Amino acid sequence: MNTLFKTGSIGSMKLKNRLVRSATWEGMCDSDGRPTAKLIQYYTDLAKGGIGLIISGYTYVRLEGKQNPGKMGLYSDKFESEFKTVTKAVHDAGCKIAIQLVHAGGQAKAKFSGSTPVAPSDIEAAQYSEKPLQLNESQIHDIVQAFGKAALRAKQYGFDGIQIHGAHGYLINQFLSPLTNQRTDQYGGSIENRCRFLIEVYDAIRQMVGKDFPVFIKLNAADYVDQGLELEDALFAAKMLSQKGIDAIEVSAGTGASKKKSPIRIKIDQPEKEAYNLKVALAVKNVVSCPVISVGGFRSYNISLQALEKHGLDFISFSRPLIREPDLPLRWKRGDLKPAACISCNACFKPGYFKGGIYCVAKEKVK
Ligand SMILES: Cc1cc2nc3c(=O)[nH]c(=O)nc-3n(C[C@H](O)[C@H](O)[C@H](O)COP(=O)(O)O)c2cc1C
Ligand code: SF4
Repeated sequence: MNTLFKTGSIGSMKLKNRLVRSATWEGMCDSDGRPTAKLIQYYTDLAKGGIGLIISGYTYVRLEGKQNPGKMGLYSDKFESEFKTVTKAVHDAGCKIAIQLVHAGGQAKAKFSGSTPVAPSDIEAAQYSEKPLQLNESQIHDIVQAFGKAALRAKQYGFDGIQIHGAHGYLINQFLSPLTNQRTDQYGGSIENRCRFLIEVYDAIRQMVGKDFPVFIKLNAADYVDQGLELEDALFAAKMLSQKGIDAIEVSAGTGASKKKSPIRIKIDQPEKEAYNLKVALAVKNVVSCPVISVGGFRSYNISLQALEKHGLDFISFSRPLIREPDLPLRWKRGDLKPAACISCNACFKPGYFKGGIYCVAKEKVK
């Protein structure tokens, strides 16, 4: 059987193929983070489109960690029934779903979170929209505990795994980066110290969900900003997580301040522009023993296949191609191997902010 459609595993989670929906903020939750019927339908359509694993949109573990409107929240027990409906709908459609847990830290926005953002250091950075307050050790401890509690809820509500968001300039990435982490205590300075918050989050989650429940991470392999996280330090973090028993690493790169090297690059209109994080994913693969997922700019069938067959990666993940074509996996499986129709224009963000949820604006225009 074609490698893209071979079964695979992330820890104890068995997947029907090697195609993953990378975490994508849908902007479809109520203002308090409650999943809506619209979001449940969105996930059902994705699940029916043949993807092996859906990773949810980034989900805040504490109120002050919210960045965008319509973002999913798992900071309390109050949405149990809605989350259970989400996971049941996806399972009934023959798919698995993991939840991506995040604290946006300095990238949070007061107008959505209701309070001034918090971060490792109270510095102004191009990736922040306002100057954050510096976290003290007791606040750091509370956030670590919030990740653990959210993970336990997710497990109880039927999610098949937890993805820690350690990429794209959010709080964990802020601690890893020497630019945004200028602390002089045990959380700053050396790479061991800058990894401390990430490892505490991982340990808290692992302690809550147990050793057999899939826990994985989306990790920045580089920030592509002056003084930001660089590959060598990211490899140190990846190795450490692998030794501790993380079940997979999805490799991304860039922050909102990385311009042309943003995590969500535009104009991927030639094969050479595709798979733009492949090189750093291979660097991670080289130093870890867990499966590695590559994300960023996969559009062609053959380039996706080669990432697995030629380069030895374990999974490929997609975001924008599935906004435009939720049934892309089934289309490829049927033998229609045309590239994804997504033109990488990023116009899908706008309706997430202003119209109660993302959709492919470019597709609507050509209708
Ligand atoms: C509308 C939108 C929302 C996104 N939300 C998230 C998110 O919640 N968490 C995350 O890790 N990445 C998020 N991303 C980034 C994607 O997961 C992915 O890393 C990036 O778009 C590159 O993959 P692609 O070329 O397949 O789109 C988002 C991307 C888009 C377009
Ligand atoms: S609007 Fe449509 S074509 Fe443009 S990036 Fe989003 S999904 Fe792709």
